[in-house]
Amino acid sequence: MPERTPYIAANWKMNKTVAEAAEFVDALLPLIAATQCDVVLCPSFIALNEVVERRRGTAVRVAAQNMHEEDAGAFTGEISAPMLVELDVEAVVLGHSERRQFFGETDEALARKVPAALGADLEPILCVGETEAARDGGETKAVLERQLQIDLAAVDSIDLARIVVAYEPIWAIGTGRVATPEQAQDACAFIRDVLRMRGAAANEIRILYGGSVKPANAAEILAKPDVDGALVGGAALDPVDFAAIVEAAR
Ligand code: PGA
Repeated sequence: MPERTPYIAANWKMNKTVAEAAEFVDALLPLIAATQCDVVLCPSFIALNEVVERRRGTAVRVAAQNMHEEDAGAFTGEISAPMLVELDVEAVVLGHSERRQFFGETDEALARKVPAALGADLEPILCVGETEAARDGGETKAVLERQLQIDLAAVDSIDLARIVVAYEPIWAIGTGRVATPEQAQDACAFIRDVLRMRGAAANEIRILYGGSVKPANAAEILAKPDVDGALVGGAALDPVDFAAIVEAAR
């Protein structure tokens, strides 16, 4: 099985002004200078440029938190892939549960966004995950499979190896209620199986867990064989905590 480089992403959500983002990057860089992991920062749109410039010359990569599927047009308030690429942004979070829940993001829109990101050479970080009711009803796998089938419907099997998938159970996001390492492992392994059945080089794809990852619980989750990294919200707002999670991924 190929060694997959651990992938740790900081999803800042609607936090950090440009000045605060700059301060974070300056504090983080010396703390993670020796890491072999892929470290990705996901600031707000307006802080992207500042973060891109501050991390130049380092291995830290930068992702947007969303994008529109069209390159340009009458879509007030939206941001397109070419706009991100022009800033040297390398990746984009797509389908985060907060976008799905509060902003009407649909799987059908994601089916257009994922290929648009790939077409622009942006790495999609596709988020999938079930609600608490779905988990309690034994529907976790059905939900994950449906999301993956629709969101990736237009992606060639060869291109599936270029995406990152984040398993984010909605009941664990921002709640302090973290999935057990076994739950994270089971879901990530299942996602890998679904991708393999789609014809992907599934052993190469990084599959992350997200939902209340903290320095104290990161190591045991990241030790699981199919959990290749983490998408971190709350604990990624502090550079020391985030660096500790990066450290735990080694
Ligand atoms: P959390 O958020 O770590 O604050 O639970 C994770 C996410 O939403 O990506």
